[in-house]
Amino acid sequence: MAKQLVMPPDNYTVRLDYMKKIREWNKDLSKKRKVFVQTFGCQQNEADSEKYLGMAVDMGYEPTNTPDNADLIIVNTCAIREHAEKKALSIIGQYKHIKAKNKDLIIGVCGCMVAQEHRREELKMKYPYVTFTLGTASLHHLPRVLWETIESKKRLITTDSLEDFTETVAEGMPIRRGSGYRAWVSIMYGCNNFCSYCIVPYVRGRERSRKKEDIIAEVKALVTEGYKDITLLGQNVNSYGKETDTDFADLLAELDAIEGDFWLRFMTSHPKDASHKLIDVMANGKHIAHQFHLPLQSGNDTVLKAMNRHYDMARYMSSVHYMRLKMPDITITSDIIVGFPGETEEQFEDTLKALRNVEFDMLYSFIYSPRKGTPAAEEEQVPDTVKGSRFDQLLTTQNEIALSKNQPMVGNTVKVLCDGISKGESSIYSGRTEGNKIVFFHGTPDMIGQFVNVEINKAEAFALWGEIIN
Ligand code: SAH
Ligand code: SF4
Ligand code: F3S
Repeated sequence: MAKQLVMPPDNYTVRLDYMKKIREWNKDLSKKRKVFVQTFGCQQNEADSEKYLGMAVDMGYEPTNTPDNADLIIVNTCAIREHAEKKALSIIGQYKHIKAKNKDLIIGVCGCMVAQEHRREELKMKYPYVTFTLGTASLHHLPRVLWETIESKKRLITTDSLEDFTETVAEGMPIRRGSGYRAWVSIMYGCNNFCSYCIVPYVRGRERSRKKEDIIAEVKALVTEGYKDITLLGQNVNSYGKETDTDFADLLAELDAIEGDFWLRFMTSHPKDASHKLIDVMANGKHIAHQFHLPLQSGNDTVLKAMNRHYDMARYMSSVHYMRLKMPDITITSDIIVGFPGETEEQFEDTLKALRNVEFDMLYSFIYSPRKGTPAAEEEQVPDTVKGSRFDQLLTTQNEIALSKNQPMVGNTVKVLCDGISKGESSIYSGRTEGNKIVFFHGTPDMIGQFVNVEINKAEAFALWGEIIN
């Protein structure tokens, strides 16, 4: 299919030129144009949205927290499960009414969903008020695409991919972060693993790493600015620097050497290559949070093989044991998928058994969702009722485990990074521990964004409660 819009190779100066054009166009208006960014999906998407917002603000837009008065709406979509796509499409559907009131409104749909041709086709045909689409690897092309739609007054919904996944990583983008104390730092993009259920490698392209110097400079600047919780992001951080002579453990060790009072975390690490070297660096670190998100997906070796995960339960357990040996206080969390094609009752029982053996502090559980173009979607599917019942059993089992993991914390004093007033109750504040557990306590506004010490007096499966200790 012919390309409707051919992107010339990106170049930093070209991007700045387009940004300047839009800044001029936005200048001297009696009322500033507003931008609204709506984000679905994972932390990687959150981080990308901070760049979309950063670019928009740099181009003269003012952020707004409602789509109703926006002049530019960017919907940053996710494709991981059908539900995520449905939600985004339903929200985009509602924007029709806003567009009806403001014919100059520009709506851009970005992110993982629009990296799929069938979704772009759908947007083009059924959502005529969507102005442009922009895929994940083309995020830095926003100024150009925006300018081209402004100038031509035409839609730029490409029927062919804009992506060039082999492109080098775009640096130097303005970032508008959500808070002044927690920050995402992408260290690599894409995924080469092709787990048989997963859409990510198709929508985010091949792995490419940022340069170590760029990451170190960004983290140093964040620490200087007072950021206290910095999360390094990648679909499989263990693949960081594979194409060079460095690796993720080395990067982490160098970042840990930065002076300051901050926590450093990372996600996600693939169990097939979570190395002893990495665990040793964590155990010896000053700043590296003793928290490990290690997605297991299934507790059955046959299912793991069908998922193309390249590890078995024995390998997984050995990593868990080594982590607990080196860091007895470590918090371990995981992802589980129930109802993978062909998963039998016995195989599912193995997953429950694995939960009891490992004792995760927290679990993100998902019902398998067939993704068009992935191998598992072609297999015979587990009926929805069976999936639902397995999901419920998984939650019940995990709730007991989570509670039993949290209960021994009662009586302990923990360091908590305060986030602010918890929803609903004005005097109750919430924050997170080094292990990323939620803690509720009586706080004051000056604590927001600061580390506080909280003595725990109550434990639930999903949260801890306590009081500030001076
Ligand atoms: N790169 C990370 C995972 C990113 S996706 C890793 O490999 O660990 C986050 C989680 O979504 C996955 O761990 C998996 O549990 C879940 N997931 C991915 N594809 C899915 C699908 N088709 N249906 C249901 N859950 C899925
Ligand atoms: Fe998806 Fe697997 Fe890559 Fe994670 S490692 S993003 S689950 S393909
Ligand atoms: Fe979704 Fe894309 Fe993240 S598919 S989970 S937003 S990488």
